[in-house]
Amino acid sequence: MINFRVNGEQRSVDVDPSMPLLWVLRDVLDLTGSKFGCGIAQCGACTVHIDAQPVRACVMPISAVAGKDVLTIEGLSPDGEHPVQQAWKQHNVPQCGYCQSGQIMSAVALLSSNPSPSDEEIDNYMQGNICRCGTYTRIRAAIKDASAHYSLAKNVGDEA
Ligand code: FES
Ligand code: FES
Repeated sequence: MINFRVNGEQRSVDVDPSMPLLWVLRDVLDLTGSKFGCGIAQCGACTVHIDAQPVRACVMPISAVAGKDVLTIEGLSPDGEHPVQQAWKQHNVPQCGYCQSGQIMSAVALLSSNPSPSDEEIDNYMQGNICRCGTYTRIRAAIKDASAHYSLAKNVGDEA
């Protein structure tokens, strides 16, 4: 048995320790928001957070996740109203949508570490998330909008 938390819930899975986290999320735990794209850590469609750091779940053996906290797109917000998701809706970012949960999880990680990224910092951070529909301009605009919320939260925190 391998024990870890997913979206705040304790989970136990009885699987081959080498099984990638993405397989466990999708096929064992039925959390299908994280997508399979390339399977070799080249596209970002499977991006989730482990202990608040973005990782490619397609190449992360479940044995390495034991005792850790996993956050997937399903756990970002109970109602899809996380500030990054709101900005995504406002800018109509998705086209086919396939890459977008990975894009959002990377954007959340970026803004958590850098609440006011420049265009260049956004492009550099997000370059590992491929969008075959070419929604990059809208992704950048949405991150810029969401950054206002993060900057505000940081300022309020600084003043507290
Ligand atoms: S499916 Fe994991 S990076 Fe492409
Ligand atoms: S929206 Fe289609 S791959 Fe990104």
